Amino acid sequence: MKLWLDTADADELRAASRFGVISGVTTNPSLWAKAASGTDYREVVVEICSIIDGPISAECVAQDVDGLVEEARKIASWHPNIVVKIPLDENGLEAIYRVSKEGIKINTTLIFQPNQALLAAQAGATYVSPFVGRLDDISQEGMTVVGDIVDIFDRYNLPAQVLAASLRHPLHVIQAAQAGAHIATMPYAVFQAMFKHPLTDAGMQKFLEDARKAAKVRT
Ligand code: G3P
Repeated sequence: MKLWLDTADADELRAASRFGVISGVTTNPSLWAKAASGTDYREVVVEICSIIDGPISAECVAQDVDGLVEEARKIASWHPNIVVKIPLDENGLEAIYRVSKEGIKINTTLIFQPNQALLAAQAGATYVSPFVGRLDDISQEGMTVVGDIVDIFDRYNLPAQVLAASLRHPLHVIQAAQAGAHIATMPYAVFQAMFKHPLTDAGMQKFLEDARKAAKVRT
């Protein structure tokens, strides 16, 4: 399972890129507003493309099919690594079909049930993004949807990749991997939490103390 960062914050991406394990990025208008309100979305996304050399998602906000197609073409022209995010409703599905035929990569966003993913995959989307945390928020098992989509795509050899999104804590990352997601996209704080275990800290402290003691005995 690949690890992507869900952020529009260039500083977070620079910090996370040091380890070589983040291979893509997802942004959306809310993340843009949070990280860089008042800036130009294109500039934010192009800067992100200069930090992480992998698929970078940027989202459309047009409300009709022609508008989505036009916006998708424009966003895709910003950088060769751009993946255009389109939400899955009736207009979104038609736009996905039209722009996928032109070779534009689509990440279908705001997926909450497997039929939406099935439609997006058959319309030509490269990625489908079930939102786990937002389903958990309304007392539905978000990760079950991820697993169901993975099973359906496997059964029918659909090439679209399942991108587990709206992950809120490190357990979600483990569960996404267990469910067979191809990619997990997560906030920086969740990525940082993947490093940590109190027994690692305690173990390092003990090794350090013992190394000091052992060195003293020798001298
Ligand atoms: O990738 C989608 C993500 O940004 C949504 O997360 O926490 O707003 O549901 P959240």
